[in-house]
Amino acid sequence: MLIRNGVLVGAEGQRRLDLRTRAEKIVEIAEGLTPEPGEEVVDASGLLVLPGFIDTHVHFRDPGGTHKEDFLSGTQAALAGGVTTILDMPNTQPAVTGREQLNEKAALAAAKAVVDYGLYLGATPENVEEAAGLANEVAAMKLYMGSSTGSLLVTEFAPLYRHFSTFPHDKPLVVHAEDEQSLQYFGALARPQSLASSTNHNQVRPPLSAQIALSRALAIAEKTGRRLHIAHTTTQRELELIQEAKQKGVRVTCEVTPLHLFLTEEDQQQKGNLGKVNPPLRSREDQQALWRLFDSIDTIGTDHAPHTLEEKRQPYAQAPSGIPGVQTMLPLLLNAASQGRVTLQAVIERCVTNPARIFGLSTKGALEIGKDADIVLIDPQKEYVITNEQMLSKCGWTPFAGTHIKGMIEQVYVRGALGYVRGTCIARAGSGKSVVYTQSC
Ligand code: NCD
Ligand code: ZN
Ligand code: ZN
Repeated sequence: MLIRNGVLVGAEGQRRLDLRTRAEKIVEIAEGLTPEPGEEVVDASGLLVLPGFIDTHVHFRDPGGTHKEDFLSGTQAALAGGVTTILDMPNTQPAVTGREQLNEKAALAAAKAVVDYGLYLGATPENVEEAAGLANEVAAMKLYMGSSTGSLLVTEFAPLYRHFSTFPHDKPLVVHAEDEQSLQYFGALARPQSLASSTNHNQVRPPLSAQIALSRALAIAEKTGRRLHIAHTTTQRELELIQEAKQKGVRVTCEVTPLHLFLTEEDQQQKGNLGKVNPPLRSREDQQALWRLFDSIDTIGTDHAPHTLEEKRQPYAQAPSGIPGVQTMLPLLLNAASQGRVTLQAVIERCVTNPARIFGLSTKGALEIGKDADIVLIDPQKEYVITNEQMLSKCGWTPFAGTHIKGMIEQVYVRGALGYVRGTCIARAGSGKSVVYTQSC
């Protein structure tokens, strides 16, 4: 296939170049390429040509929660959002904590996925050795220092330290950094008012809890010399602590979600449980700090965490935390780029280049010869409004319904095959493949 007349966008900048794919790979990039006999030609005049986005943080609920998402609906939503690779979190039912659950989930993903995928292993107080033994088969290990959706949790020092020191040091350990003891304390204080749907989640799970857990994780990472990736960083203080640790040589990287870039605690107050997520939507000051310190963010991941409207309509205390987002990340960031808040290059660095580097996805990560032909064609001029109806997630809602977006995803290719075209997924269930991991750095 030959994609002609488009503007290629990478982490280094934009170039008007043609791009040729063959047998799932990018094989040629040059000016003025001429079609070969019988070659399919895509005219990308006026369009931007982006590498497929890599979302290293999704919860596709398969198995155990397939009434709200499964590998087919979740990956279709990803594809429609220009995300051609996802890494799925382990807090499914059963949680992925060992060989058996990993094999079960791998079979489900292989049968249903329409984008490429990798799986996480979840840490428990008991699975230190087993987890380390499975490291080569997973994208990373996920460790919850504070309880969130699902049962995974490690709070005691001994298993925490043993996971940090035993799990292969060059493989990312991804941490949900909220401190359980302080969550319990502030949660108990909030209980009397927690039947009201307008309870401020940011006070129930305050920034202090994130700061305590992060400090603990950084100290243990420094001591053990291991790699650490902080999931959903939400506050200025956390970004400062991570920056300081990096300067000292701690092998730490961090993720920020579009939710925390685009929404605040005021939105949670207004949206009620639809804005309930862990860690919570933060103050306007913290949100602005994420933009101001954008350079220090390594990855943007969605934390796509679908729950049904019915589940969300329960009282505050019972309603599950989590918000869908895999389909809206690229549109929101494109729109921010069109407003001049950020450059597309900086977005691609955080949504493609760095995720591939950090998680060792060496066949992904750039529009370059030899890489998988994961390609997104964008019309930068087209405008539209996000609606719940556009969402392909089974949960059927987005907190961004009503948001005006400039820049539209026209076509998405996974390893050279057209999977999505203007509103319609045409990819076949099972066409997504497991990613391969190489030594990450
Ligand atoms: C996530 C979920 O629902 O799986 N919820 C959330 O609020 N982020 C779990 C998690 O990542 O903490
Ligand atoms: Zn989390
Ligand atoms: Zn999550």
